[in-house]
Amino acid sequence: MAEDLCISNGGKEEKYRMLLPQIKCLIEGEDDLIANLANIAAALKETFHFFWVGFYLVKGEELVLAPFQGPVACTRIKKGRGVCGKAWERAEILVVPDVDAFPGHIACSSLSRSEIVLPLLCAKGEVWGVLDVDSENLNSFDEVDARFLQELCSYL
Ligand code: SME
Repeated sequence: MAEDLCISNGGKEEKYRMLLPQIKCLIEGEDDLIANLANIAAALKETFHFFWVGFYLVKGEELVLAPFQGPVACTRIKKGRGVCGKAWERAEILVVPDVDAFPGHIACSSLSRSEIVLPLLCAKGEVWGVLDVDSENLNSFDEVDARFLQELCSYL
């Protein structure tokens, strides 16, 4: 298949609606996790121009940086630390409208202002990683992002 994405100029819901089937198509038939995470991060960055988008994977008691798009980021995050570590600990989606108001937020970049983190869950409900998306603007993420990104995570 061609690897070009076809995305409309509409609102974010319309963009997600167009993007998700293309991501599904891009990763199905490929069983290499890193390749798939890399393409998902690239597709989200290309579509929404997020400041930072990427994955951390659970390794022992830490999250370790995995494929991402954006500025360099912290490599390891302990369980319960920062937004990512909290999303892992609670196994729930965290939408942070203002990172400065989130106790313990880990500022990989001072430019990041709002954030959404989604746990990646295996069939038993255990968290095996997180998807982290950062914006340079306050209040960038809402239930639309949570819903579509959660669906995207279910493809993994
Ligand atoms: N802000 C995150 C750390 C990861 S970076 O934003 C890429 C956190 O508080 O967990």
